Amino acid sequence: MLATIEERRTEIEFAEADAQGISASGIWGGASACPATAQGRIEIRGVHKHYGVFHVLRDVNLDIEAGKVTSIIGPSGSGKTTLLRSINHLEKVDSGYIAIDNELIGYRQRGERLYELKEREILLRRTKVAMVFQGFHLFPHMTALENVTEAPVSVKGISKDKAVEEARALLARVGLSDKEASYPSQLSGGQQQRVAIARALAMKPKVILFDEPTSALDPELVGEVLHVIGELSKSGTTLVIVTHELGFAREVSDKIVFFDEGRALEYGPPSQIFSSPRCARTAEFISKLL
Ligand SMILES: Nc1ncnc2c1ncn2[C@@H]1O[C@H](COP(=O)(O)OP(=O)(O)O)[C@@H](O)[C@H]1O
Ligand SMILES: [Mg+2]
Repeated sequence: MLATIEERRTEIEFAEADAQGISASGIWGGASACPATAQGRIEIRGVHKHYGVFHVLRDVNLDIEAGKVTSIIGPSGSGKTTLLRSINHLEKVDSGYIAIDNELIGYRQRGERLYELKEREILLRRTKVAMVFQGFHLFPHMTALENVTEAPVSVKGISKDKAVEEARALLARVGLSDKEASYPSQLSGGQQQRVAIARALAMKPKVILFDEPTSALDPELVGEVLHVIGELSKSGTTLVIVTHELGFAREVSDKIVFFDEGRALEYGPPSQIFSSPRCARTAEFISKLL
């Protein structure tokens, strides 16, 4: 009986999605049908986005490699946060597409048309991508342990005992075993951000997006968070890090993207971007920050 109701719900959702179908022609042409071996490959093609009349993303094209560390550097206001939010479907793009392992973000393709996914499906797909924010965004009324167990229990349906066991291991991994009963207000900024990283890891994502993870921290707390991210960089999870910590980016990244005025202006290994950038804008930005 339950299965029948579920099937019916799915049918209704498909029918509703059909009513909002948009043309995929010219949007979904390029992605390969072959699955990649490593997971968490992000393909960004022809992405544009406006906020009102402001053109924030201007034809962004990028291939972010699975299992590698990619840092995005660039001036404030150039659209870096908007790009990360688009990868996580917290923002909708106006045209172009973003796919993770050939799965479109926020859309399903049938034939020549794209259909926006329902909220529940978006939530499910979003569990493959975790985001760590500049301002930590922990739940203030929950302990460190509860912050880490919340999503695995409520979104993934993992048993409380299992979630607690995994959360304890993750808090140990970020050096916070002794803080599991502390509330965010009782923790330093660096400790809160490490809880936020443990919370991201608890969903076992293929991709973790970091949006300036250390820029809200007092200088003496930056190192402990960078250390944890540095450890993660060896884990085989795809990491995308927006940061102004150029020394750190150079050290841990496989690839660097220089983002300027809504465009991925330059992309390459750290040695190229930092030592022999091809664009004058990249050189100018780096020389100001280093
Ligand atoms: N929700 C929004 N509505 C309108 N403008 C926005 C919104 N979010 C960001 N912007 C503007 O878009 C530009 C790019 O913002 P953002 O993606 O945050 O850049 P960055 O992360 O590189 O500093 C900025 O000029 C910002 O003011
Ligand atoms: Mg930003």
